[in-house]
Amino acid sequence: METLCVPAQEQTLRQAAELLRQGQVVAFPTETVYGLGANALDEAAVRAIFAAKERPADNPLIVHVADRSQLKGLCEVTETAEKLMDAFWPGPLTMLLKKTERLPAVTTAGLPSVAVRCPRHPVALALLRQCGLPIAAPSANRSGRPSPTTAQHVYEDMVGRIPMILDGGSCQVGVESTVADLTGEIPCVLRPGAVTAEDIAAVAGACRVADSVMRPLKEGEAAPSPGMRHRHYAPKAKMTVYIGSDQAVAKAICNRYDEAENAAILAHTSAIPLFGSRRVFDLGDTPEEGARLLFQRLREMDEAGRGLILAQGWKPEGKALAVMNRMARAAAFDLVQV
Ligand code: TXA
Ligand code: MG
Repeated sequence: METLCVPAQEQTLRQAAELLRQGQVVAFPTETVYGLGANALDEAAVRAIFAAKERPADNPLIVHVADRSQLKGLCEVTETAEKLMDAFWPGPLTMLLKKTERLPAVTTAGLPSVAVRCPRHPVALALLRQCGLPIAAPSANRSGRPSPTTAQHVYEDMVGRIPMILDGGSCQVGVESTVADLTGEIPCVLRPGAVTAEDIAAVAGACRVADSVMRPLKEGEAAPSPGMRHRHYAPKAKMTVYIGSDQAVAKAICNRYDEAENAAILAHTSAIPLFGSRRVFDLGDTPEEGARLLFQRLREMDEAGRGLILAQGWKPEGKALAVMNRMARAAAFDLVQV
């Protein structure tokens, strides 16, 4: 199959919407990461997403809508969900709600709940409006690869597998949306993102964070979200994340770097001078910059053929929880406090 990678414009948006109506798969930008979309109500179309991504069939998809009126008949919208939609939609918050019969089981991997989100990227919104369908869309990477934050990343993973990629530039947030379970008494964050548990609590009165967010699942433990079961956000290189003061982190990383053969460093901008002439990649200075840059840097470091990544992290709390959740998984939870 030929894969067109085209700038998102009036005419290409129209073509993409038509492809979606025909049951095809199209990649498009959102403010978080690029998505791989198809009609959420069309079983065959949804199966084509799983095939293109090589995604295990037990990992459910997020259903994207242009506005909340499109949720009618798909799920039960609770009062708390309404409040959270008022506060954070369109935006990087995905909510788990009870699904209805109308959504095919393949979209939610047979689960009784559905994940729903209204993205705020203008290209995503225009596409959703034009096709008039709820669009199931996971991140547009091949399963196990870092999520794509540019159209070029999508092309690398999806060339020959899908007919069209809409190019809308680099994603602003850079890590996937917050996934919050609203089917229980108190909202519970299963995957941290740009909307924090504190942000949700300020609107909903309270919010928990699943404790598996910063640790590996124990053997036989049920994953609160199926996606957490699978290997994720993985660079090809081995990775260790160091947390502490710039000085302490730089000392630990330099020692390890000098003993290794083929290492590269991923450091905060302000700390870069501490690494001398060693090979350093810039992760920005704030957790938000880190989130925006992380997946791109992991791809670049793999391309540079580095076998070991020594990364500087942040304390995993508040706004830093999103980027640290991804860094911890990329490092297979090899975290060192110095
Ligand atoms: O920012 C995002 O959320 C991006 C853009 C494209 O919207 N999408 C995304 O989708 O990250 P994906 O499929 O890569 O991640 C969805 C996560 C997975 O971990 C999945 O297991 C979980 O949400 N999920 C989806 N539906 C669920 C459900 N019914 N119950 C529990 N977890 C669910
Ligand atoms: Mg994903």
